Amino acid sequence: MAQADLSPIDASTRCLGVYGHPVHHSASPAMHQAAIGHLRLNWRYLAFDVDPNQLPAALEGARRMGFAGLNLTVPHKLLAVPLMDVCADSAREWGAVNTVVFEGQTPTGTWCPLGQWNSQPPPASVRLVGHNTDADAILKSLIEEFQLPGLDGLSVLLLGAGGAGRAAALKLASQPLAQLSLVNRTPDKALSLAREIQARHPNTRVHVGYPKHPPDLVVNATSLGLKPHDPSPLANPHHDLADTRFVYDMIYRPAETPLLAHARSRGCRTANGMGMLLHQGARAFELWSGHSAPIELMRQTLRSTLFPTAPA
Ligand code: ATR
Repeated sequence: MAQADLSPIDASTRCLGVYGHPVHHSASPAMHQAAIGHLRLNWRYLAFDVDPNQLPAALEGARRMGFAGLNLTVPHKLLAVPLMDVCADSAREWGAVNTVVFEGQTPTGTWCPLGQWNSQPPPASVRLVGHNTDADAILKSLIEEFQLPGLDGLSVLLLGAGGAGRAAALKLASQPLAQLSLVNRTPDKALSLAREIQARHPNTRVHVGYPKHPPDLVVNATSLGLKPHDPSPLANPHHDLADTRFVYDMIYRPAETPLLAHARSRGCRTANGMGMLLHQGARAFELWSGHSAPIELMRQTLRSTLFPTAPA
């Protein structure tokens, strides 16, 4: 689709990409390349399988080769934090980096993203600025998918307290929820997350374990559902979802996990994590380019890349 719009590769084409391990499944190249074509930027976005031991060298290589930006995915997000020259507030707050902006120093000493560097000569000095666009994307996606004005007054059950679960929990806790319940296979992780939430958001009612009354919204941030025979992340049989309004699964492949299928059969509104992938990517694109991201084009491209046989 967007391929026809790409400007030809020449000596000033800039590289961007995603580092992951594995990374062959990534839909980010298709999504970003569509946006690049739309804005007629002289960029290419590629996927690189980078062993975690090689992350420092791979980041240094990208700096020296004039990359404009990178996304980082599993397992690099935490490892990258000490490798940044500067961490933006978002990366500091979540303790993880999913977006790197390469910035060049101008003759007056200010810093400019290399994706917006239009002058010659190239900068003498380049720094790596780490951002995290994941947590905002969770909230945006929930609000968009369920057409809510906000999450005010909702009782939320969050399943999972790993990397994604922690970011979701802290973001959700920043909203005026009625209650946030945390459930995790390893209860200690949920407990320490609850303590962190209590310290950062003392007005939020946080509780570890299944809530007494059915929650309005259930969010799955565990990896259960990625594999076809995974058990449900919703282990408690008393929570059969009949009185739950919304169920969100951060997994987007498969498009409908058994949890979402069950939720749909119980009359809940359901959504998968494609919107999170979209919004974290759109924000990263804006940080690199300084342009508004063409969201609908990126969404369509993601949909057709992830679910090629689904109706448009
Ligand atoms: P991510 O960065 O995607 O969040 P992660 O940090 O490895 O990945 O977290 C995976 C989450 O899925 C955790 O909440 C994990 O529970 P534990 O903290 O107990 O490990 C959860 N998870 C993974 N496999 C699970 C299983 N078989 N049953 C229940 N929860 C599981």
